[in-house]
Amino acid sequence: MTEFPDILLQVLRRAERVAALTGAGASQESGLRTFRDAQTGLWAQYKPEDLASPEAFARNPKLVWDWYAMRREKIREVQPNAGHYALAEMGHRVPHFTLITQNVDGLHRKAEETSQVSETCEVSYPILELHGNIQRVRCAECGMYADAWEENGDVPRCAGCGGMLRPDVVWFGESLPRSTLEAAVEAARTSQVFLSIGTSGMVQPAAALPFAARNKGAVVVEINLEPTPLTEKADFLLQGKSGEVLPALMQAVWL
Ligand code: APR
Repeated sequence: MTEFPDILLQVLRRAERVAALTGAGASQESGLRTFRDAQTGLWAQYKPEDLASPEAFARNPKLVWDWYAMRREKIREVQPNAGHYALAEMGHRVPHFTLITQNVDGLHRKAEETSQVSETCEVSYPILELHGNIQRVRCAECGMYADAWEENGDVPRCAGCGGMLRPDVVWFGESLPRSTLEAAVEAARTSQVFLSIGTSGMVQPAAALPFAARNKGAVVVEINLEPTPLTEKADFLLQGKSGEVLPALMQAVWL
């Protein structure tokens, strides 16, 4: 069993406000390949920007649609891992918990919906998907969400305005959804403990959140396989897999 510093356990036990930021590493044990790792076979010839930017969609919408259709299918097959479930449980135990994720796979929501603790507990916590959700689809013109569409060999069209449909994810060069980002910044700045989990901290503005928390006095805890640009400023680095460290931490703090 993993040993944690006593002081960290005490801080977590007492904390009223906790925010957690997750990145691709949090989904790694669900067997999900990162964007780059998934670019195998036919897709290896493209740069990420050729598949995930407004310019790419304007140039070749079918290519972009097909890439996301493939990713969407793969993601549908995977399940939340023990780290997702530990966070769902933490979300119900901490009075004010905010889960902020850069992942578009929707696995935190899935964990929340399927965890045992949510069956017995009515109060939920916000899950802020900073980069969107790959399972959601919206019109590139009018923004209307689409629940169903026909795959007829071309990019499906919006039932309302006839515009092309696209995944509801943030592409390179696009801004993050404003209200979601504002809520994330607020959660970071008011948190007493901020957990940074499975993220390399290379992509802004998400990478700034742990620093915003720290500047306001939060205890910053990093959970990662390896050090990142945050490590030097973090109060604790819990080195290991999030699917192992998070359940052990939950156990040590609350059970
Ligand atoms: N447990 C904990 N950490 C892990 C694990 C694991 N099982 N596996 C990998 N990691 C760590 C790696 O050491 C790395 O620091 O997760 C981090 C993953 O980093 P990135 O692949 O850069 O992912 P992320 O930080 O989420 O990238 C941010 O960039 O590609 C864009 O929009 C995309 O949301 C993504 C953003």
